[in-house]
Amino acid sequence: MKYLGGIFLFVVLLIIDTKPTEAVCGYESCPETKPNMVNIHLVPHSHDDVGWLKTVDQYYYGHKNNIQHAGVQYIIDTVITELIKDPKRRFIQVETSFFAKWWEQQTETHKLVVKKLVNEGRLQFTNGAWSMNDEAAVNYQSVIDQFTVGLKFLDETFGICARPRVGWQIDPFGHSREQASLYAQMGYDGEFFSRMDHSDKFRRMVDLALEMVWDASESLSEVKLFTGLLYNHYWDTPGFCFDVHCNDDPIIDGDSYDNNVKSRVDDFIAFAAKVAANFRTTHIMIPMGGDFQYEDAEVNFKNMDKLIKYVNARQATGSHYNIFYSTPGCYLNSVHQGLQSYPNKTLDFFPYASDSNSFWTGYYTSRPTQKRFERDGNHMLQTAKQLSVFAGLSSEQQKEDLDYLRQIMGVMQHHDAITGTEKQAVSNDYDRLLYDGIIGGASNARDALRVLTNLPEGEFESCLQLNISECAFTKDSADNVVVTLFNPLAHTSSQYVRVPVKKESYQVTDEKGRVVASEVVPVAWQVLALEYRDNNTQHELVFKASVNKIASYFIKKVETRENKEIVLPKSDKKSVKETEKNLEVPKRFKKSYPALALQGSNKRIALLNDRAQGGTSMKDGQLELMLHRRLIRDDGYGVGEALNEQKYDKPLIARGKVYLILNSVEESTKVERLAEKEILLPFSVFFSKASSQSQTQSAIAKAVPSFDDFPPSVHLLTLEPFTDNEILLRVENFLDHIEGKVVSFNIRPIFDSLGGVEIRETTLDGNLPLSEMKRFKFHAEGSGAISTEAEYYTAAHKPLAADSSLEASEFSVTLHPMQIRTFIIKKK
Ligand SMILES: *[C@@H]1O[C@H](CO)[C@@H](O)[C@H](O)[C@H]1NC(C)=O
Ligand SMILES: *[C@@H]1O[C@H](CO)[C@@H](O)[C@H](O)[C@H]1NC(C)=O
Ligand SMILES: *[C@@H]1O[C@H](CO)[C@@H](O)[C@H](O)[C@H]1NC(C)=O
Ligand SMILES: [Zn+2]
Repeated sequence: MKYLGGIFLFVVLLIIDTKPTEAVCGYESCPETKPNMVNIHLVPHSHDDVGWLKTVDQYYYGHKNNIQHAGVQYIIDTVITELIKDPKRRFIQVETSFFAKWWEQQTETHKLVVKKLVNEGRLQFTNGAWSMNDEAAVNYQSVIDQFTVGLKFLDETFGICARPRVGWQIDPFGHSREQASLYAQMGYDGEFFSRMDHSDKFRRMVDLALEMVWDASESLSEVKLFTGLLYNHYWDTPGFCFDVHCNDDPIIDGDSYDNNVKSRVDDFIAFAAKVAANFRTTHIMIPMGGDFQYEDAEVNFKNMDKLIKYVNARQATGSHYNIFYSTPGCYLNSVHQGLQSYPNKTLDFFPYASDSNSFWTGYYTSRPTQKRFERDGNHMLQTAKQLSVFAGLSSEQQKEDLDYLRQIMGVMQHHDAITGTEKQAVSNDYDRLLYDGIIGGASNARDALRVLTNLPEGEFESCLQLNISECAFTKDSADNVVVTLFNPLAHTSSQYVRVPVKKESYQVTDEKGRVVASEVVPVAWQVLALEYRDNNTQHELVFKASVNKIASYFIKKVETRENKEIVLPKSDKKSVKETEKNLEVPKRFKKSYPALALQGSNKRIALLNDRAQGGTSMKDGQLELMLHRRLIRDDGYGVGEALNEQKYDKPLIARGKVYLILNSVEESTKVERLAEKEILLPFSVFFSKASSQSQTQSAIAKAVPSFDDFPPSVHLLTLEPFTDNEILLRVENFLDHIEGKVVSFNIRPIFDSLGGVEIRETTLDGNLPLSEMKRFKFHAEGSGAISTEAEYYTAAHKPLAADSSLEASEFSVTLHPMQIRTFIIKKK
């Protein structure tokens, strides 16, 4: 410990000693390479799962090492110590959630040291999202959010030098085109990953096609991203794992009988030659790391130092292998300067088959209730974000609660969380975290609704068990209950609202006191049969509500009409069920399309779901949806237990909704996309007591901006507090180039109603002014002549920048099909 202290003090003295210079981070800090040699970019990294066999905290603290020896805090501690020792050493930090936790516990002096490492490009953040997200079971909205959270932390902590330039999705089980598109829209230069269908990988090795240009969108131009597959998964070179977790030979270079420098260097160069034969430039990247490696980083760095020294020493005798510490960003920079052409890739990398009989598709369905709970978390997050903006919530507690939910949702996107590939105990921990997050979000929503409606003391209970028709708030009586509905979408929507009630007669009225048609319907017997359900109510009061942003409905008990169900004509009865009717209203991980469809020459039938599920069409005319997955044996891929969920000592029961849309081929996909928005972000329902109907009348106290004037294909993707005096706004044209067209509208009215004084446009993640975006352009084979100079993309349109003194015309926004634009609005 004394020893460490000495180093920090020494470095701090150095910082204080040197005159403040321009930070040399980014590509300027990349190591020198040699022409006419095979340049080996040695990339030290650690793959730190945000929960898998152990919980997030167990991994961070190195707790429960009997399950798996892993402690992320020690990894970061020792890596920093080792980086300080030699300016040539490099390390990439990937999972921002772990780094942020570590950062919080450092002293100011130590923070200065780390800042210096970041400013000199020695510690490079790569990927940089809160977690390394899955790409199949996630929704694009939550992926964008979790990058926003991670990159915002890095930007606020370090500034531009910490901004990641490349994606590093080395462990997720298959890859989506949409993820590549999001990287491009965030201004990333490229992405790397390591899992690809084994036969595809084999073919690509033969064709020198492990690196490619992903044409990531059919609708958006310039959404092309360099994408590279790692040669040997993300693990160390075989035989060269110098980590305390490994048993490979260290490099023994002293006067020892065991001196192995010659054979170690021979082996390494032989491996490098094999790798180099599969790539197009004179550069290769060799990752050095693996799961939770570098816990005692001195062991790794000491041996890598020697490896570098002895491989390069051979250059004196004619070897043309040049090796140095590097990063994925620096490797990509060299490749970019290599001016090669790369094959063009379209579509996804799904499904992932690791060998001929191992398709990693079961996880699309694993843990159905956790997959749904994650969507509930997103629903609450979007609701709390928007309501926080409208009500101007600003207390420390409110900000903390919102941040907590944002971060937990970031954790949930991790490739062992939303996927359901974690151990049961870890799954339970995710539930605990998400539940806490949702409770905080619900508390913000309540605080906001107390400001925004005329029920300053309203309870605004969100009943989280409505999926089994359970609500403590209405279980005894639904008399004099106000139902407040929040619509997270831009456009007015009509949806059915279901309130658990006792079988009595009720009258529902809207804010103007008008009676709204309603019906008491029995709850499905399958739900009533759940033994753990609180069986106080066996019915639901159903009514159709129409909401712009916020609306209240009032429920009152009335004299029973013989306590008998109201019999409605057949057609009406049908409308109460959630059938197509519900979806007619004109509202894929884009994005991956949430619909499974069969299409004939003029009709199309599509299934939409409320959570991630696997599905297929094995035979013509069949649709198959996997609803629930249970295994009686461990699958042999590391988790070490069978996926066989129990709840209340019984096999888990999951309840969900599948929507069926039948339509003409021309209209159908449009309708499906509208429905997808309503299914992902339905009304948020809040319950309060009111002494009388008059309380609901006159309803909303403070005006909430209306987004109804946006063109119908424009989705309010995000509206959230950004900094204390800034708001982030994302708008999306969700129809593609076949379904829709370019739309233009003016956001001045919204800007004004949000109290805006200035507005600027940013990259998709909200953290970089769009005017500053400059990212690598690579040449795709067959797309004309190769340029003789390195090429770049900058913003494809003039970034919007305006302040309140300017004409309304300066606030015009044009959205191409599928385009998303992100703005930061500064408030008074
Ligand atoms: C709940 O109550 C209903 C109506 O009395 C009954 O049919 C049902 O079996 C009960 N459920 C359980 C689990 O007891
Ligand atoms: C209902 O939703 C909760 C989360 O709010 C979840 O824990 C539970 O498993 C769900 N129940 C069913 C039957 O799907
Ligand atoms: C890539 O291939 C697709 C499909 O064949 C084609 O539409 C697109 O123009 C190609 N992109 C480039 C850059 O060559
Ligand atoms: Zn992993």
